[in-house]
Amino acid sequence: MAGVIGSPIAHSKSPQLHGHWLKVNGLKGFYIPMDVAADDLEQVLRTLPRMGFVGVNVTVPHKEKVMELADLVTDRATLIGAANTLIFRKDGKIHADNTDGYGFIQNLRENAPGWVPAAGPAAVLGAGGAARAIVASLLDAGVPEILISNRTRVRAEALQADFGKRLSVVDWVQAGNMLEDALTVVNTTSLGMMGKPPLRVPLDGLRKDAVVTDLVYAPLKTRLLLEAEKMGCTTVDGLGMLLYQAVPGFERWFGMRPTVDSATRAAVLR
Ligand code: ATR
Repeated sequence: MAGVIGSPIAHSKSPQLHGHWLKVNGLKGFYIPMDVAADDLEQVLRTLPRMGFVGVNVTVPHKEKVMELADLVTDRATLIGAANTLIFRKDGKIHADNTDGYGFIQNLRENAPGWVPAAGPAAVLGAGGAARAIVASLLDAGVPEILISNRTRVRAEALQADFGKRLSVVDWVQAGNMLEDALTVVNTTSLGMMGKPPLRVPLDGLRKDAVVTDLVYAPLKTRLLLEAEKMGCTTVDGLGMLLYQAVPGFERWFGMRPTVDSATRAAVLR
């Protein structure tokens, strides 16, 4: 038995995703969404293993707090400052990991097979919680330099302070300029999401040989991806990241590595 804890939780796609994998793999497990208030988090984490849970995914607003409550935290979760996957070990210890960066990189590797991270700089739009995992994973994948731009510049500077010299901060009003050098372009802001304003960064500087991806997956094709496609870039939508970040947790909990394919996408979009 596994699940996802957060608040609110109704919007989470994880139950559909894990439910699909349980079904197609003929496994008997359950994956349950749980709305957990901040005040109850510690108690819930103590109780779930005793109820037979093998782990949980963690979403807003508990991604940081669970790190304090876990017994073991992976280096990548520590670097990112947040965890999204907990494993309840047989010895009673709680192991916290962050698989967002893995999901992000895997999505690009699978859907843009020609992508060579080390070939040139990356441009990252946004410096919120999601951007930390993206920056960490891009550096880990061998990107030589990251240009990062955020409406609130100090948040980008905070990332630069944490991740060092391979990051340069670009003013939000100049964000379009940084695209001229970038071979990997990532939108980590919520701009372009259904119900949010569009991303208005000028895109005419995009290189044809760039791989462009958006963490927004509703709609699947954001203005950034549509424009990039028109300009001849390789584009990858954000749904894949959501699917791939769930793979390591499912594998640890249920002992089987799930496949990400068109049926998985369809299960989540239903
Ligand atoms: P997440 O964890 O999903 O990254 P977040 O930490 O709230 O969420 O970050 C949201 C990102 O979208 C931030 O980079 C935010 O910019 P600010 O740091 O300036 O808030 C960006 N964002 C959201 N609305 C925006 C807007 N209207 N214009 C520009 N950037 C916006």
